[in-house]
Amino acid sequence: MTIELSLYGPALAYAGQKQFDCGHAVINSFVHNSLKPQVKKSLSVAYVLTDSAHEDRFAGFYTIAQHMIDVSSLSTMQLGSLPRKIPCSRLVMLGVDKRYQGQQLGSRLLKHALVVTQSVAKQIGSFGMYLDADPLAVSFYQKLGFTLLVGDKTPESSPMFLPFSAIA
Ligand SMILES: CC(C)(COP(=O)(O)OP(=O)(O)OC[C@H]1O[C@@H](n2cnc3c(N)ncnc32)[C@H](O)[C@@H]1OP(=O)(O)O)[C@@H](O)C(=O)NCCC(=O)NCCS
Repeated sequence: MTIELSLYGPALAYAGQKQFDCGHAVINSFVHNSLKPQVKKSLSVAYVLTDSAHEDRFAGFYTIAQHMIDVSSLSTMQLGSLPRKIPCSRLVMLGVDKRYQGQQLGSRLLKHALVVTQSVAKQIGSFGMYLDADPLAVSFYQKLGFTLLVGDKTPESSPMFLPFSAIA
């Protein structure tokens, strides 16, 4: 199986995008209906996994955007003196189709997002990555170094953060 990771092109047609199923209804609907227009309008940028053994089938994706959080939301992390508003990157959506889960592809997408955003941080300033984690995915993000900002908010999504200074 050869899975490629590339920048999502809103003008391109991706086999299987309309059938994408990661098991999460909101994320599925986003991929089917909103991904293309959102990227077209530059509201976020997406990277996509495609399976070259199956007509470059859409196998997974993530979207990122610029974001701003209040320093009070980082109070449990003991990061020293910081300004009131913290510029950061936000991982907005992430999903891997059920047929491809459990093969380290979600982890590959997240690591790629961190490399991309760290590189951008050197040019425009960004303190780390913020995300709102689905309750079922909190431990997935913790494995990659993210910290819960206000404790587990199950059944709602939980805000999480990873300062770039914590990445070797
Ligand atoms: C969460 C998701 C992206 C993980 O993708 P994946 O390709 O199956 O994950 P990986 O194979 O890269 O898993 C990496 C590690 O996280 C663990 N993991 C994966 N999904 C997990 C979950 N939901 N909860 C806890 N741990 C999880 C794996 O066991 C693996 O651990 P290991 O490194 O010790 O073997 C995928 O399950 C998915 O699309 N879920 C539905 C959508 C969703 O919840 N997205 C996140 C919204 S915030």
